[in-house]
Amino acid sequence: MSKDTVTMINNRTEEKFEFDILDATRGPSVVDISKFYKETGMFTFDEGYTSTASCRSKVTYIDGQQGELRYRGIPIEELAENHNYLETCFLLLRGKLPSADELLDFDYEIRHRSFIDENLKQLIDSFPDNAHPMSILSSGVSALSSFYYEHLKNNDEEAKQEMASRIIAKIPTVAAFAYRKSLGIPIIYPDIERSFTENFLYMLRAYPGGKMKRTLNGVEEIKEIEIKALDTIFTLHADHEQNASTTTVRTVASTGAHPYVAISAGISALWGRAHGGANESVISQLDMIGDVKNVDKYIAKAKDPNDPFRLMGFGHRVYKNFDPRAKALKKLQDQLKNELDLDSHLMEIAHKIEEVALQDEYFVSRNLYPNIDFYSGVILTALKINRPMFTPIFVIGRTVGWITQLMEFRRTPYKITRPRQLYLGK
Ligand code: SDX
Repeated sequence: MSKDTVTMINNRTEEKFEFDILDATRGPSVVDISKFYKETGMFTFDEGYTSTASCRSKVTYIDGQQGELRYRGIPIEELAENHNYLETCFLLLRGKLPSADELLDFDYEIRHRSFIDENLKQLIDSFPDNAHPMSILSSGVSALSSFYYEHLKNNDEEAKQEMASRIIAKIPTVAAFAYRKSLGIPIIYPDIERSFTENFLYMLRAYPGGKMKRTLNGVEEIKEIEIKALDTIFTLHADHEQNASTTTVRTVASTGAHPYVAISAGISALWGRAHGGANESVISQLDMIGDVKNVDKYIAKAKDPNDPFRLMGFGHRVYKNFDPRAKALKKLQDQLKNELDLDSHLMEIAHKIEEVALQDEYFVSRNLYPNIDFYSGVILTALKINRPMFTPIFVIGRTVGWITQLMEFRRTPYKITRPRQLYLGK
């Protein structure tokens, strides 16, 4: 019996089975059960894949117990402090941080690819005024597969990198156009003189003709601190291993579908309030709680097994400790509170929730800590970004992670994702 295997005994039949242990470079090993059904005639069962590794990957590493997150081996705290979002995109896509010249070239390419086809603008215009920007984003990105159909069969590395740069560059424009559409105001085209993150804020805020707001003491330009805050938020959201939306992207990619419709499917999966939609729900929930004196009542509701109410922004499938991104955002909040108009009332309620929950046995025993969505909304509100745009902000940050994971998946011979079931029907 090899020591690099696990043995399973079926006590019903007294049959013995051996399965190989495959070791990770960091984190848990896996038991290779790919031949489990063939050898045992049974399926394994793991609803929600709580103990199942679905793929091999070298992109992102999470240690849920330690509250550790690394992109290509670099801790998220280092990237958020010392690098910008485009550097992080380059790191995820190419496996290393860019040199100064490589960053210049990458930045130049992203700026010049940020425009979208005028016909796509008409698709966005065809949505009802009250359309949620996430519905426009998922539709718009799916439509991009028609404008760039050649990416269905990316033959070489250059074509793959072009496919990735295009989607990273265009999603902020589709998101900004969706926002302007929801307000019924003319869209603002990208400005290639502005950096990735500044350009996004510009497309949200500028007046027709690209003019920034005039106030009594001059033009209200976009502040450096605002650009740094949003750029950090994009970096913190860039990738996160095999979460629900990334698993969706890989699943759609596994059928051989166009990469951009796989990203569109990821956008749809992210929208749910149990996933990326939580950032919008957190702020709505803080509003609903309304005052620190109501916190205890809502904590009790969250603990009540018969009450569907959940504390949005709390808990995580992997982190059984503080989400390191939540820590970074909390630090950012503290840095910003003297520079930006942070909503102190909402922050007061959020801090009270955190204080009560982190001492409450129900949350402590279930390792329920604040996650990334608990803190992002207060900062986005201070950046004058409206709530329906919170999850699109998550999409802009995460697009590089989705496309990187898709490219990794398709680099090796891949199998179509097709799990089985425990049948309980007639
Ligand atoms: C993201 O996976 C990722 O990496 C996602 C993400 C990424 O970057 O891609 O990190 C982004 O999606 C963050 C999570 C945002 N969602 C929320 O904040 C919504 C609120 N959180 C929950 O819905 C929940 O915590 C999940 C969905 C995040 C995790 O759910 P799990 O892992 O399936 O855990 P579970 O539902 O089995 O909960 C375990 C226990 C249950 O109680 P018991 O049945 O043991 O009595 O904890 C309870 C749950 O009822 N619980 C909560 C709770 N979260 C879990 N109770 C109250 N409030 C909560 N928020």
